[in-house]
Amino acid sequence: MDFRHLKYFVAVAEESSFTRAAERLHISQPPLSRQIQQLEDEIGMKLLERDARPLRLTEAGRFFYARAVRLLEQVQETVSMTRRIAQMDRRLVIGFVPSTMYGALPRIARMFRAARPQTELVLVEKSSVEQIEALKTGRIDVGFGRIRLDDSSVRREVLREEPLVLAIPCEHPLANSTAPLSLLDAAPYPLLIYPRSPRPSYADHVLSMFRDKGVEPMAVHEVQEMQTALGLVASGMGLCVVPVSAQRLRREEVMYRALLEPSAVSPIIMSTRLHDQSSDIVLIRALIDDIYRAQAAEKLLAPPSDTPLPMDPP
Ligand code: BEZ
Repeated sequence: MDFRHLKYFVAVAEESSFTRAAERLHISQPPLSRQIQQLEDEIGMKLLERDARPLRLTEAGRFFYARAVRLLEQVQETVSMTRRIAQMDRRLVIGFVPSTMYGALPRIARMFRAARPQTELVLVEKSSVEQIEALKTGRIDVGFGRIRLDDSSVRREVLREEPLVLAIPCEHPLANSTAPLSLLDAAPYPLLIYPRSPRPSYADHVLSMFRDKGVEPMAVHEVQEMQTALGLVASGMGLCVVPVSAQRLRREEVMYRALLEPSAVSPIIMSTRLHDQSSDIVLIRALIDDIYRAQAAEKLLAPPSDTPLPMDPP
């Protein structure tokens, strides 16, 4: 069986007609019918009910159609991924969820550009879900996200688990102490979550932390971005759970308290195409290790601080 058989069969199945499928494939009808006949002979099963009008698939045909579509998509993905890898010497595209910009991402980008001036570095905002598709179609080469999503063509590594903190309006009753508090203390108040879409997202992660404790927040308002959520916290509209690296935002109007639950963390996940070991990707991974090592050393040297919040990585 060759690749053409699959392409021809999918066209006939989708058009429910040999005539329209032949037009779509820019071939004449007799060779198309011959190819489908050959395919059926090879499988030893009828895939089409030829007498039906419009043409219908047999049960075996429906099964074969679903698998053939998947195979064709995989071939297409493989071609785009290979093209992207061939272009890697000139361009590296990183997809990131916005909150990683408050962590190590700007430093990684600066160091990468200094080390590889010949490679154009592009940073594009993408949700964790979007990153998977963008990796597979070659629109990005590396993704930094926060949601564990399984895909057999994507390699995923959790770089670290970042502590989460509760953002509280300055005049709120919970703002009268800086001590760590529980999600149970936050549950009686309105909660702002983000991003609204696409799901699953960090929003679901936050909601499931409350559900794991057997509580639901009193009311939930969904917004698209962390910046909007923090603006609404500053306006007194509710509370919001954010990564600790975001706690430097809106310090005049928002106070941040650490959470007692050990589960109150969010992973920073690096995703790449499976088996893509290009030198740019190897360099990015090495820079992350360098940054984490330097941050650990800076932390050891820093004088004790009065801030009650857990600070940056690792
Ligand atoms: C970090 O903050 O640890 C981080 C952020 C983006 C990419 C990689 C690491």
